[in-house]
Amino acid sequence: MQLKNDRYLRALLKQPVDRTPIWMMRQAGRYLPEYRATRAQAGDFMSLCKNPELACEVTLQPLRRYPLDAAILFSDILTIPDAMGMGLYFGEGEGPKFTKQLSDFMDVVQLPIPDPEVELRYVMDAVRTIRRELNGEVPLIGFAGSPWTLATYMLEGGSSKTFSKIKKIMYSEPEVIHILLDKLAQSVILYLNAQIAAGAQAVMIFDTWGGVLTPNSYREYSLSYMQQIVDGLTRNVDGTPVPVTLFTKNGGLWLEEIAATGCDAVGLDWTVDIRSARQRIGDKVALQGNMDPAFLLGTPERMRLEVQAILDGYGQGSGHVFNLGHGITPDVDPEKVKFFIEAVQSFSRTYHLDNNI
Ligand code: CP3
Repeated sequence: MQLKNDRYLRALLKQPVDRTPIWMMRQAGRYLPEYRATRAQAGDFMSLCKNPELACEVTLQPLRRYPLDAAILFSDILTIPDAMGMGLYFGEGEGPKFTKQLSDFMDVVQLPIPDPEVELRYVMDAVRTIRRELNGEVPLIGFAGSPWTLATYMLEGGSSKTFSKIKKIMYSEPEVIHILLDKLAQSVILYLNAQIAAGAQAVMIFDTWGGVLTPNSYREYSLSYMQQIVDGLTRNVDGTPVPVTLFTKNGGLWLEEIAATGCDAVGLDWTVDIRSARQRIGDKVALQGNMDPAFLLGTPERMRLEVQAILDGYGQGSGHVFNLGHGITPDVDPEKVKFFIEAVQSFSRTYHLDNNI
């Protein structure tokens, strides 16, 4: 079936568009009262992820409110460690935690590689349900965490400020980390290819913690495994390309190397000047980003100036997917999000006037 709105996919492939497409990281989330209500109905966050009908419902909620150009699967990057038997849970108002700890080499060696249609079937069922319910309105984005980012949560036992546990192992027994990263890379390839087979029309890899590494460690422990994933993904379904976006938060220094993996697009956080990013890698890849979500807490006037500055920084032509530089925060007023999306959609038209569409 033809998509009714394919701006997001076209921009990722640098094909002409009438305006810059937009979606928001964490667009289905706690800033929306209807999300909080559905999560309460499910009981908790993981029960929401594991219920394909309710996961579909929250995926669609932001699209009912706003004219977004893409839907993103409602799930979490930590479904893979959970499916490996780590026992993921989220305490009320807390970050992620695991019931199981990885204490030694044998624990890592024994971790299984999950079969996506078995242990992660609920995710594939959510993808199929969402694709059906979207009815061709906008494309559906699938996603996974980068091996490095998943490994940080698994070895730290949750969120971390210093990453000292994983770094201690990395700089004393690097082979343990490499066994884990290798398993995670294989798991992510199977998982994303299964999402693509189930109906995801583009995929994104979230490397939230690559930016805590040194340049050499980034190459060895994060980028090389994302490279394996890019090489292992299904990039085309029945003649239609399936674009891949890589996003390393705080990875602004390494844009050239990220673009050289052969991905279609690079996600930018707000520390990057999108004008210079386009000069550096805009001939190779599309760019996604990069407004600081905190502009959604300020005045609409300042937010509009920032939207204008980002559009102007990218400049004329296709190849830009507007987004935030990281996820929208729970304290944002949903009314302001409306102004934000309207600003992107109305201001961006003048950057696409030469496109003949
Ligand atoms: O973007 C979307 O709308 C799709 C859904 C999505 C979620 N998590 C839902 C979620 C996506 C793409 C993610 C990715 C994710 N999960 C990342 C990478 C992106 C990033 O934010 O850097 C990471 C690091 C995680 C791990 C994770 N999940 C953490 C650290 C937390 C707790 C922090 C928090 O915001 O509370 C989560 C929970 C989570 N994942 C929530 C949502 C909507 C909030 C949980 C809740 O509803 O109580």
